[in-house]
Amino acid sequence: MSPETQGTGCPFGFGTQAGADTGTAPAGAGHAPSAANATTHNATHHGYEPFQMKNPFPAYAALRAEEPVMWDERIGMFVVTRYDDIKAVFDDWETFSSENAQAPVRKRGPQATQIMNEGGFTAYSGLSARIPPEHTRIRGIVQKAFTPRRFKVLEPFIRQNVADRLDAMIAKGTDHGEIVKDLAYEVPTITILTLIGEDISRIDDYKRWSDSRAAMTWGDMTDEEQIPHAHNLVEYWQACLALVAKAHAEGGDNLVADLVQAQKDGAEISDHEIASVCYSLLFAGHETTTTLISNAVRLLAADATIWAQLVEDPKKIPGAIDEVLRYSGSIVAWRRKATKDAEIAGVKIPEGSGVLLVMGSANRDESKFEDPELFDIARPNAREHLSFGFGIHYCLGNMLAKLQAKIALEEMTAKLPHLTVDDPESIEFRENLSFRVPIAVPVSWTE
Ligand code: HEM
Repeated sequence: MSPETQGTGCPFGFGTQAGADTGTAPAGAGHAPSAANATTHNATHHGYEPFQMKNPFPAYAALRAEEPVMWDERIGMFVVTRYDDIKAVFDDWETFSSENAQAPVRKRGPQATQIMNEGGFTAYSGLSARIPPEHTRIRGIVQKAFTPRRFKVLEPFIRQNVADRLDAMIAKGTDHGEIVKDLAYEVPTITILTLIGEDISRIDDYKRWSDSRAAMTWGDMTDEEQIPHAHNLVEYWQACLALVAKAHAEGGDNLVADLVQAQKDGAEISDHEIASVCYSLLFAGHETTTTLISNAVRLLAADATIWAQLVEDPKKIPGAIDEVLRYSGSIVAWRRKATKDAEIAGVKIPEGSGVLLVMGSANRDESKFEDPELFDIARPNAREHLSFGFGIHYCLGNMLAKLQAKIALEEMTAKLPHLTVDDPESIEFRENLSFRVPIAVPVSWTE
């Protein structure tokens, strides 16, 4: 078992954790559910630690078997771990609204609040925490701007960007690289900046702001630690407002200009809502794809036979990406709030309760996926994973995320047919409630 290195190395208030995806079901896995014990779990919460991403899978399996709907007083939410229950909650937006999806998990401290108020921070979720009818109205307008034409134009640009980065990594001549730094960190960010119409030279700003957004919303920080992130969020929001102002003044061939044009043509969307969409996309549109590409290499190149299959037959790449998303999704847990008294698997959920849907567990539910701990790129139902959510909020960018991962793997298998991952068990993950992010994926290759 790899060593645990919690609390080291992460610059932005998350800890880091080493470990792999090799969770095995504990004794008792597969037992019938027990609604009776749903709020009387033992003090260890079946091993579940909400912010730990080292290897959460044994705890997920224990929860599914022993307490599939568990009240967790540490985060003030019901933790739901079975596939069918999670899908049903996602599907019932009237009972379980997403209005808490972007709320800070830890209360914002007084200094951070003051910095954000004084900085004019009024950002609200673009879509994921909005509810119908507002959500339906804005999603309809944004979806129209997310046209296949935009993605088609982007595809050769993404491919060139990937190829250039891989060539630069290979040109170092060491036969070693680090996939997050050398490839996955920047490619999706440049893609989304281009889609939005932002200058790609601002990449470092957006990366810094996104790290702050993740830390402020899903992290576990003290009031003091929040202060630099609060400044970053103010800058981030001001940049989103500036993008909308620029689109009004200059137009352009990009998504923000399309939304501003739609507004001029009568679509019911305000400047503040367009800026909020930017605020969402400039985060959601790259962090998770960086993680997908990193996880894809981490899992696929860790096994020489799997990598060889993809080299020989790149048509297997899309199926492999679905299995990566199932086995190791970029987002392992997402929130909902009960709008009325409800029930999940026989457990009473009082109105106003927070509910944490652990998709990382659903994706390994033995009642849905045969031999779920096995990583199998030919798995016939891998696409039924819940890593993109389900229902009215189903991820708007799923095609773009998968397209980028596909291009990255096509280029990598062509250029690096003998790629391997160095010591996959020691890879570290950020400490976080929702995002399971590998910090670095060191790789080697031979000619
Ligand atoms: C591997 C990459 C990605 C993963 C795992 C992911 C995951 C998710 C999840 C779990 C949700 C919430 C779904 C729900 O509440 O039911 C979501 C929503 C969303 N995602 Fe993604 N996402 C990814 C990439 C992207 C990209 C590339 C974009 C944009 C270009 C994007 C834009 C959005 C938007 C706008 C929403 C809100 C949709 C709504 O509420 O109607 N995502 N995503």
